[in-house]
Amino acid sequence: MTPRVLARLAPLLALAAVALLAACGGSDGDATPVVTFEGTDGASLFAQACAGCHGEDLTGTDQGPPFLHAFYVPGHHGDAAFFLAAQRGVRSHHWNFGDMPPVEGITQEQVTAIVAFVREQQRAAGIE
Ligand code: HEC
Repeated sequence: MTPRVLARLAPLLALAAVALLAACGGSDGDATPVVTFEGTDGASLFAQACAGCHGEDLTGTDQGPPFLHAFYVPGHHGDAAFFLAAQRGVRSHHWNFGDMPPVEGITQEQVTAIVAFVREQQRAAGIE
């Protein structure tokens, strides 16, 4: 290979290296969590991570059930159910929407904020 050919290849090699790094970033597991969701505000996090299926106003969509529903009051689905749902997903059992996939990249703190938001909305709707 002549130096000129090498010089032409250099940008390509650099690109390939960047692509490889990017591809590996996600598989590092717990060491470097992939941050997908922004902020600490429960309402905003719910909108980012959950509303697509559970509805912006928590009344559900054709992808997922409403949280303003007696099924999801604290006595039926305690806060732990929310952490488990986000972490592991949910196998369809109450409804016919199909399974809920795990919500990748969300942190415990973020789910805590989401649960507080959901409980607040449930109380406001008189569902406790
Ligand atoms: C891709 C759609 C989808 C997204 C996104 C989603 N869910 Fe779900 N979720 C579902 C479906 C569907 C069910 C109902 C499963 C059933 O019981 O049939 C469900 C059920 C649940 C349940 C009930 C769990 C149980 O034990 O019965 C909780 C709690 C929950 N979701 C929380 C969340 C939270 C919190 C988020 C956001 C961080 C979220 N979901 C995002 C689809 C989704």
